[in-house]
Amino acid sequence: MTVLLRADGVGKTHRTRGRRVEVLDGVDLEVAAGQVTALVGHSGSGKSTLLHILGLLSPPDRGRVFVEDVDTSALGDRGRADLRRSRLGFVFQSFNLLPQHSALRNVLVPHAGRRAEGEERARSLLDRVGLGERHGHRPGELSGGEQQRVALARALVNDPPVVLADEPTGNLDTDSEAALLALFRGLADEGRAVLLVTHNPVVSEAADVVHRLKNGLVETERSAA
Ligand SMILES: Nc1ncnc2c1ncn2[C@@H]1O[C@H](COP(=O)(O)OP(=O)(O)OP(=O)(O)O)[C@@H](O)[C@H]1O
Ligand SMILES: [Mg+2]
Repeated sequence: MTVLLRADGVGKTHRTRGRRVEVLDGVDLEVAAGQVTALVGHSGSGKSTLLHILGLLSPPDRGRVFVEDVDTSALGDRGRADLRRSRLGFVFQSFNLLPQHSALRNVLVPHAGRRAEGEERARSLLDRVGLGERHGHRPGELSGGEQQRVALARALVNDPPVVLADEPTGNLDTDSEAALLALFRGLADEGRAVLLVTHNPVVSEAADVVHRLKNGLVETERSAA
């Protein structure tokens, strides 16, 4: 088992207007290549907080995150941003698409290489997520589930070994949900590490490993066979 993403004693307290919310209290977690890992837990248990920390979008208050054995706490902002862009694909709970741009342009936003190659890759990714006919549509001209799939295509544009997604089936009907799950399975079969935050039992049942976030800690509910 090759661990591509690891949290080691991660702690986080949110502070707003003098109030403190202890969300993570020393989380240890490993996400392995070739597997779909689900992270479940009640609303407000800290799943998005943890996913953002694992995705290097916000730093933990304590503990460390390793991406492919690189200790990210030893990196500067620039190093972390480079690592995030090249090694991690992140699908946000609220998509974060740019409303003025087409689906194709949105997928291209984080692309790091040559423009022409990026366009070709963006097109094939939109085809792969079933949006072959929608390249030119803006987010406002797409359904919630379609926007979610654009966000997934964008997360894959730099071919990252690690894919993180926050409630990826939140806006989908049963058929689209099954198609998306097949897609995540395909990504894992390609050797990627896939971590899905979900409330949906269909998603966690389809995962290889299930972790539960509870009282600030992660416990393993089901490990790989
Ligand atoms: N920026 C913030 N400032 C203060 N408190 C926050 C902030 N972000 C989140 N919280 C609080 O931290 C807790 C965890 O939030 P988080 O978004 O991680 O939960 P979640 O498990 O993803 O929930 P959901 O399933 O509803 O998406 C919540 O109680 C929330 O109110
Ligand atoms: Mg959340």
